[in-house]
Amino acid sequence: MANREHWGTRLGLILAVTGNAVGLGNFLRFPVQAAKYHGGAFMIPYFVSFLILGIPLMWVEWSMGRYGGVRGHGTSPGVFHLLWKNRAAKYLGVIGIVCPLTIVVYYTYIASWTVGYSIFSLCQDLPKVEHAGSLEESLHPFSGFLSEYIGTGELFLIPSSLAYVIFTLTLFVSIWVLARGISRGIELLAKVAMPLLFLFAIFLVIRVFTLDAPVRPENNPLKGLAFLWEPNFSKLLDLNIWLAAAGQMFFTLSLGMGAILTYASYLREKDDIALSGLTTAATNEFAEVVLGGSIAIPAAVVFFGVSHAETIAQEGAFRLAFVSMPAVFSFIPFGHLFGFLWFGLLFFAGITSIVALAQPAIAFLEDEFAVERKHAAWYVGGFLFLSSHIPIFINGTLDELDFWAGTFFITLFAAVEIILFFWVFDSEKAWKEINRGAEVRIPGIFFYICKYVTPIVLIIIFVGWMVQYGWQEVVKTSLPKWIARGYLMIFFAGAGFLVHMAWRKKRTTQ
Ligand code: PHE
Repeated sequence: MANREHWGTRLGLILAVTGNAVGLGNFLRFPVQAAKYHGGAFMIPYFVSFLILGIPLMWVEWSMGRYGGVRGHGTSPGVFHLLWKNRAAKYLGVIGIVCPLTIVVYYTYIASWTVGYSIFSLCQDLPKVEHAGSLEESLHPFSGFLSEYIGTGELFLIPSSLAYVIFTLTLFVSIWVLARGISRGIELLAKVAMPLLFLFAIFLVIRVFTLDAPVRPENNPLKGLAFLWEPNFSKLLDLNIWLAAAGQMFFTLSLGMGAILTYASYLREKDDIALSGLTTAATNEFAEVVLGGSIAIPAAVVFFGVSHAETIAQEGAFRLAFVSMPAVFSFIPFGHLFGFLWFGLLFFAGITSIVALAQPAIAFLEDEFAVERKHAAWYVGGFLFLSSHIPIFINGTLDELDFWAGTFFITLFAAVEIILFFWVFDSEKAWKEINRGAEVRIPGIFFYICKYVTPIVLIIIFVGWMVQYGWQEVVKTSLPKWIARGYLMIFFAGAGFLVHMAWRKKRTTQ
């Protein structure tokens, strides 16, 4: 317990947690969600979610993490066990290891495409389209290119060997960083990757805003911004928009996963949480709303016009990143360099989140089984490598894994966390934890928000979402869905068994 690792510096810590939060979600998922839900109508629920869900949960995960870390437990099974003296608590915490690890199983593969594409872009190997024709015509060569890269097929996908090799390398580098540990691995990565990420993003934003109107006079970058930001109050009562905004808030801040909790477990007992938590949340929002909102969608509007940009947004984040954006770059002078910046940006965003998603599993093996860090990292790496073959080779499993780990359990787990902390553990004690070492005074109203508003809203969101969409998804069946579900069930059972063994060992050695 005494030899748990710590962050090296305050700045390093902030960069690392920001790296955790700033990910593909900021530059792909956010613009797509915002455009899909009519921009201006989306932003109001989004900001409300930031205040009543994002900030409170950020503080809660940081405090739970620090509380557990100083007592030798950096993941949710151990932390829940400390907070709730019930035999079931540690098993509930299994979600906080299985879900982030399931996400890395496919997130690493997607992040590895950005490596491939940044090389293609730099070497000018991506297709070229000289004139912006119809949307279909312009995008067709790029869809074809993506299909060749990752494979197409009814059930089986056979990726190009390059895609497979680059994926293996991406995973290898991520695990190598993790094996180096908290301050010499994760923190160092963040210190290099985060400044580059911001630099690349700023370059791209400037490029987008100096595009003028190369295709049609009315399609200028401002039109792109207006498309995202024009307020639209008529849609405010649409529950779907509220659900989507709240979901995006969790995803982008990495909440409801246990990933922030594990990072916070490497704090010291008196380290500040109030200001650091707020700083990371605010920096993530800057990267998302200001930078993420000013690149892909405005660029798509400039080249394809508003209505086509809407179609692009409906088609989802992957196509935006790997089909529409390369098409846009093919129209721009020096587009191959800007394409390189775009994929480089996504890569830095991706890799700092990959390490965050894999660290809970590593911390679990270290804390609960006293496995040495390096070994733990490579065991987890081996497991990830094998598991990744499911989404790489079987069509449809990626979306199914994402549904469960990235959508279903996030809200549920966030609700469990805050209820455990503010209701089971005790709200006065929880509030004291949040304020211990605080460098800013948290307004008292947040006590009531954390205790009443956030849990109630979370429950409403979960139930509302289940009734509206979740349920329909759950009852759907298909072979890939069952493969993914089978995999998840085995994974949950295995992790549950490990938790069982860990606590049995503790009892017998005490
Ligand atoms: N927040 C990351 C993003 O925006 C995703 C993520 C979720 C990373 C959970 C770690 C944990 O892409």
